[in-house]
Amino acid sequence: MQQVNLGMIGGGTVGSGVFHAWQQNGDLMAARLGVKINFRKIAVKAFDEPRAYEIPLTLMTTDWQEVVNDPQIHVVIELVGGTGIAKVMILAALAQGKTVVTANKALISACGPELFAAAAKSGANLYYEASVCGGIPIIKSLREGFVSNQFPAIYGIVNGTCNYILSRMKQEGADFGDVLADAQKQGYAETPPDLDIDGKDAQHKIGILASLAHGFWADHHEIHTEGIRDVSKIDMQFAEKLGYTIKLLGIAKKISGKKPGVQVSVYPTLIPNSHVLASVNGVFNACFVRGDVVGDTLFYGRGAGKDATASAVLSDVADAALDLKLGGKVRVAPFNACAKKGRVMPMDEITSRYYLRLSVADKPGVLAKISAILASAKIGISSVIQPEGHAGDSVPLILMIHDATNAAMQKALAKIAKLPVIKGKPVMFRVENFD
Ligand code: HSE
Repeated sequence: MQQVNLGMIGGGTVGSGVFHAWQQNGDLMAARLGVKINFRKIAVKAFDEPRAYEIPLTLMTTDWQEVVNDPQIHVVIELVGGTGIAKVMILAALAQGKTVVTANKALISACGPELFAAAAKSGANLYYEASVCGGIPIIKSLREGFVSNQFPAIYGIVNGTCNYILSRMKQEGADFGDVLADAQKQGYAETPPDLDIDGKDAQHKIGILASLAHGFWADHHEIHTEGIRDVSKIDMQFAEKLGYTIKLLGIAKKISGKKPGVQVSVYPTLIPNSHVLASVNGVFNACFVRGDVVGDTLFYGRGAGKDATASAVLSDVADAALDLKLGGKVRVAPFNACAKKGRVMPMDEITSRYYLRLSVADKPGVLAKISAILASAKIGISSVIQPEGHAGDSVPLILMIHDATNAAMQKALAKIAKLPVIKGKPVMFRVENFD
């Protein structure tokens, strides 16, 4: 049986998870693929660094170049992460014509075109299934399973940390800060948590999915990104009263019209409780993919963790093994996103519905003043709630707003915020009905 030799750079939690999964099911993979998969070298930070599963000392080195430069190694797995040395390692491996498997979403997001161009130049493949939604085979599904489809819309809960925090806020009526502190204590959220909480991690992932789905590179600078710091328990509660749940959604939606484009964005979103994504709780990820041929589909699973990530990494290793066995460069082009032109639609042009929570003076005429501003901007109100029994000088006023562009809504909101009857900063979230 033909043999494919692997070298891995990174032997910590995820790396040891990959090695362990290979120990567990490597023979089964070989039987399924008709290719023997063999680990030849693993570069680690230190021989005794903490790892979830043991790696034999005979396989380990602390010099990553030994992995990249070993002529017997066909496939290099990069699990170092970040946009620094990991990029040097990947480019070095590609330059040698080796297939690279990476879980590095930050690097793909920041340097995708450069990396895929380097892969194309040396005729090597660059696989990245583990970069989005951990163990969910979303990249392979978009590339292969849905190869006959265009993608009118993809909605993803792609950050487990944010989903864990928002789920607990809803279930326990807890505050953001308290849940975050507890999540950090329990190891669910990193310290500092900014990359997750501020939506950057989700931005990397939805950018990769959008680029793959739409065939042009969605530059991360153009992806409108908001995190979950401004979601409060009071908004969770009002959303619930209105029949909604707040989720951090990555959205890649095709927009037609005179100036067509693709909305690629990340923001906390009110979604109807009846929608399947509203039931995705805890650290779980999910992707709701609408194909023009297949219709609506849902992918659900663990978006992080050593074992889920190992499953995705080994699925890429299997593709790499088959490429080598069959002698073909690729079975389905892994990425064609750098060639085509396309347009990430600026946020100002995006139309959506809105949830608006204002703190207002409890006196007659307030609603008239607010609705006059909205009416003059041709923005319609679909419902209003002003709960009774709130103490103090101000009371919450919740407005559900009909479709309006972001530009029009922001302009109207700036005017509303200046009204003397408005006490405190208005809170606005977008609403998605998945139409
Ligand atoms: N930090 C990510 C999350 C996991 O919370 O989903 C790795 O992508």
